[in-house]
Order: sequence, then structure tokens, then C-alpha cells
Amino acid sequence: MATDPIPRFPDGFLWGVSTSAHQIEGAAELRGPSVWDVFTAEPGRVKDGSTAAVACDHYHRYREDVALLADLGVDAYRFSVSWPRVDSPGGLDFYDRLVDALCAAGIRPVPTLFHWDLPAGLDWLERDTAARFAQYAARVADRLGDRVGTWITLNEPAEHTLLGHALGTHAPGRTLLFDALPVAHHQLLAHGLAVRALRAAGAGDIGIANSHGPAWAASGDPADRRAADFYDVLLNRLFADPLLTGRYPDGIGELMPGDVEADLEIVAEPLDWYGVNYYAPARVGAPRGVDTEWGGVPLPAELPFSVRRIEDRPLTDFGWPVVPEGLTELLTGFRDRYGDRLPPVMITENGCSYEGLDDQDRVTYLDGHVRALHRALRAGVDVRGYFVWSLLDNFEWAEGYARRFGLVHVDFATLERTPKASYGWFRDMLREQRGQRGHRLR
Ligand code: FCB
Repeated sequence: MATDPIPRFPDGFLWGVSTSAHQIEGAAELRGPSVWDVFTAEPGRVKDGSTAAVACDHYHRYREDVALLADLGVDAYRFSVSWPRVDSPGGLDFYDRLVDALCAAGIRPVPTLFHWDLPAGLDWLERDTAARFAQYAARVADRLGDRVGTWITLNEPAEHTLLGHALGTHAPGRTLLFDALPVAHHQLLAHGLAVRALRAAGAGDIGIANSHGPAWAASGDPADRRAADFYDVLLNRLFADPLLTGRYPDGIGELMPGDVEADLEIVAEPLDWYGVNYYAPARVGAPRGVDTEWGGVPLPAELPFSVRRIEDRPLTDFGWPVVPEGLTELLTGFRDRYGDRLPPVMITENGCSYEGLDDQDRVTYLDGHVRALHRALRAGVDVRGYFVWSLLDNFEWAEGYARRFGLVHVDFATLERTPKASYGWFRDMLREQRGQRGHRLR
């Protein structure tokens, strides 16, 4: 790890950590089921056979978790609101209490309205789900809007579409491949309708959290380049283009349902900021007629691209390559691609899975990525915030509890929380950023 201090970020830069409702809350019996509850109940769906019924029991232990956030010294906490909980009696009361506790600790609450836990019975293949989402967003804003100043509509609609509906490794477990595209469109429409609903409720400072990463062509061969471009369209442009330019990439709009032109006007409602979840780039080549793997997810041979290993890089315990400069490349590439249409950026997730309390590998990962972010800033990208994924070890979707992304270790037998070395590193880094002033920026 480099020993020179991390360069200073601008005053007002927002430092935070992220979590999501289904991954930490537990208290599943106090809410209606989501598609994830249905999915995990099916044998073989989650690798260790676990469920999120208890998870970190954050629902009951949120005060302890807010105290951890306060000790850490973050400016902001990104969590998600569970739609099925809000639909259940007393469900909004929990977020009321959480937001109050955060405000009392001087931490800015940054709720995400949808982080994959769709109420069971709803379906993103149905257009109507978008309108329902906007109604739900309005209800949450109505209750929390007096204390919440920053909102995120959706988390990673790309992964929810691809993993949940195209490849079937996430809930709801569909394997529609390209027939899953309406799921992308309806989520984008839901986002736009929710932005309008939030603004109508008086909310400002609205963003979205999209996962992005550079697509590196496996070679200079035109077939590999075409495959990498295709991957770039699917993972990066399919969501960013309509949001930022009001248009789908060439050839995509025709595949989408409904009055696409009219919908795109809603999708492209101006955003106050754009959230990027960054983990790693992908090396992409022409199809090889064999199944490949994307971050641990099996990819069928019939896709028009194949994902190759990134050699000569350390790998996290999840097998994801550690490539900090990919973050600089991604952000400068976005600035070049979207120009003035790109609002200020926040990194809404970045992190890694490693075992152990003395997690020096995580420290190295985070240190490298924070420096890479600063390079993007120096290159002129307007970056306003950085959120580590995640505060706590948690239910990592189809991987169950086997992947630990937390700055804080959770013993899932006792639910005891123990800060890791990376927690101390992040806390010290935040103190240094503030020039030892020792207080958080509000
Ligand atoms: C992201 C998800 C988040 C978590 C991290 C590791 O894709 O948004 O919930 O699973 O990956």
C-alpha cells in the first residue's frame, strides 16, 4: 500500500457507506414477501442455502449501527427502503426511526427507493409496475421528506435486469436473455416517474445508482472490439444514454415496449447527480462457443460476447480483479462521452469481498480506488461523493453469507459487530481529510 497521504478532496465532498434493506434488515416476518424471499425459498438458488430472514437484524439493531456510523465519522449513509415493508402496517415507522437516529448523529440519510426487493406479485415485465413505483416513492417522500434531502431512485437496474430476468441467477430467476429488455425499460420509466413524483413532493437532490465499468476489448481484432462495444452498450449505455441523452443506443429503442419516444422524455427528467457503482472492468471478446463467467456468474455461449479473465491482477475473494485505474478511466470516459449532459457524479458503491478482521487487502483496495477517484477529479470530472460498499458484512444475494464486503464484521450466529482494520483505516482517512477538525461536514 502506498504510504503517502491521500490527496485532499474538496470541502463538502460527501463521504459515506452503503447498505441495502434486504441484505441487512432481517425482520422478514414484519413485512410482506419480496421476490427475493420467494427466490431464496427455492432450493439451490442461494449457494449456502441461506435466507435474509434475519440477516444482520439491522431492523432491531439500527441504533448500534448508527453508532458505528457516527464513530466512523461518515457524512452520509446510503441505505435502501424496502417497498414490501412500506406496504406493510407500521413499515414506514422503521425508516422514520432510522432517519431520526441518523439526523441526531449528524449523518445525512441517503435512501434508495428500490434495491431489488420488489414486492412479491409485482413484475417489472408489466408497465404498471412503473406507475406503482412512483406512487410508493411519493408515499415515502411524504413521510420522510422533511428530514431527507438526498434521494436515489433505483439501484443497478442493469444487474436486476441481467441477473434477475435474463440469466436467472438473481430473483425473480427468469432466463429470458434478450426478451428481458422490457424490464430495463420499465425500470427506467419507473425512475423517471419517481423523479417527477419526488419533485412534486418538494424533494430535491435526486440521483440514481447505476453500475458501470470499462469494457476492455480482449484484443485489437475487430470481432473482439465489436463484442466489447456490445457489452459496453448492454452494461453502460443501455441505462446511461436514455437517462442522460433521452435516447437509447442505436438499435435498442425498437426492441422496447410501449410508446418509447414519449417514455424517454420521462426517463430523461434532469437529475441533480449521477451515481456510479464501480467494482471492476471486464475484458470482453468475441463469442467462443463455450460458456464463460462474468464476476462469478455463468454466461451462456449464445451471447454475442464472451468475458475473459483479466490476468496479472490481484483478485478479491469473489474472484473480481482489483483495477483502481478502471475507475479513473470510467469517469473520464463518461465525461468525454456525455459532456455537459453528465451531472455531478457520486460513487454510490465501491468495495470488495475479503475474509478476516485484519483486512489489509480491503485497505489496499479502498486506498487505491480513492486515489483513482482523486485522479478523475484532477482530470476535471465533477465528483461530489464516495460511498464504500458496505458498512456491514451482509446477505450477498445468490452467494448468501459467503462473501464479506463489510468494514464491520458480523458474526451471523451471535449478530455481534466487530470493526475490521479497514473501518479504522477509513475513519483515519476521513479525519485526515478534515484536517483533524474531527467533526463531520453536514
Ligand atoms: C452490487 C449491489 C450490492 C452488492 C454489491 C457487492 O451490485 O448493488 O447490493 O451486492 O454489488
